[in-house]
Amino acid sequence: MAKFLVKGGRLLEGEIEINGSKNAALPVLASSLLFKEKIEIENLPNIEDTKRMKELIGKLGADGKIDYEIAKKFRASILPVGGVIARFGKAAFPHPGGCVIGERPIDVFLDGWKAMGAKTELSEGAPTGYVIAAPEGLSGADYTFKIPSVTGTEALMMTAVLAKGTTILRNAVLEPEIKYLADFLNANGAKISGAGTATIKIEGRSGKLLEYGAPFTAPPDRIEAGSFAIMGALLGKNLRIKNFVAEELPTFLALLSNVGAEYVLEDNVLIFKDAHKKTLRASNVTTKEFPGFPTDLQAPFTILLTQAEGQSLVHETVFEGRLNYIQDLNKMGSRITLCDPHRAIIYGPAKLSGRAMASPDIRAGLAFIIAGLIAEGESAIENIYQIDRGYERIDERLRNIGADIKRI
Ligand code: UD1
Repeated sequence: MAKFLVKGGRLLEGEIEINGSKNAALPVLASSLLFKEKIEIENLPNIEDTKRMKELIGKLGADGKIDYEIAKKFRASILPVGGVIARFGKAAFPHPGGCVIGERPIDVFLDGWKAMGAKTELSEGAPTGYVIAAPEGLSGADYTFKIPSVTGTEALMMTAVLAKGTTILRNAVLEPEIKYLADFLNANGAKISGAGTATIKIEGRSGKLLEYGAPFTAPPDRIEAGSFAIMGALLGKNLRIKNFVAEELPTFLALLSNVGAEYVLEDNVLIFKDAHKKTLRASNVTTKEFPGFPTDLQAPFTILLTQAEGQSLVHETVFEGRLNYIQDLNKMGSRITLCDPHRAIIYGPAKLSGRAMASPDIRAGLAFIIAGLIAEGESAIENIYQIDRGYERIDERLRNIGADIKRI
């Protein structure tokens, strides 16, 4: 099995470009089901999750069956279900896989499809699966999310595009990826308004498929952007991060300033000049839906906080199970008390030493790479499929800016 070997202590210098966004590209790939013909996506990141999504869609037939083996590999496998039900009036799919960061139910999706007229049953046998049918067709609904969900909003928006009548989605999330998807669909004939606000209105097309006209260009990945910025704050010596869209990381940048990291933003290039010389200060962080601090940057930011002077509280409100990596981090030398599944207190600064660990999920995996980069000695990171799911050729790109990281 491949793993990363990371040697700590090297400063990061030069230029790194942010790749196309995973979370913006996946729903657009899934939306191809709403179209009569093929769609084109530019700047698509070549990562394991986009490869799986292409395989999943490639295997779909009019029977509406989602491939179980592939769907078990990533959570976003639920996204195409939105289009499958709308197009074929039925769908069969397993409970989606992906990062082990808590229970991750799909009740808000099922409730939404129910409100539009579909019936769900559990399928027989293992693994757990669902069979959804809407023999009478799907109708627009006025639906309120009891829990705001990113992929939930995207999936229901896609179903609503082909349903009959108008759908209103309330308590929708405000993440930028929602607007990217809506803008793309609208550029190709859909009628969606309010995306990027809590209330989204979709005028359904009564089964009439979209006709492809305008391509999608995946925007820079804001989670990759934030992760590189954390590396810059810790180890940057004239490090330039290109394609940085500051508006998509407002709270993250406010907290980065709050801990005392020094950076300048010039025309979408985030620059860290002599960041490695700065003393960082402790800060409290609470994860939240957009425009709050993204849960996907919680683990990388915790690594930063291990180097800050004083006591920081990290409060993970979006997922439970997303602080599981802390045990490994403490074995590297950090001083973190886990108060409960949602809160951790970090006492800094702490000297980290390299060790062997396995990546528990995409984001904690990247956090381990960052920990390895600042630790003394060598770290070995296993289970790197999880990291490759979200970050393209991360080893090669980090080597280009001076990191000592090898894939073996
Ligand atoms: C998306 C992102 C992921 C990010 C997350 C939160 C993609 C492909 N993935 O994941 O990177 O970490 O948003 O910003 O865009 N929930 C329920 N019932 C449901 C659905 C969700 O209880 O039916 C809960 C979840 O367990 C979680 C919370 O709602 O506690 C938010 O999850 P959600 O926004 O759905 O995350 P994803 O869309 O899976």
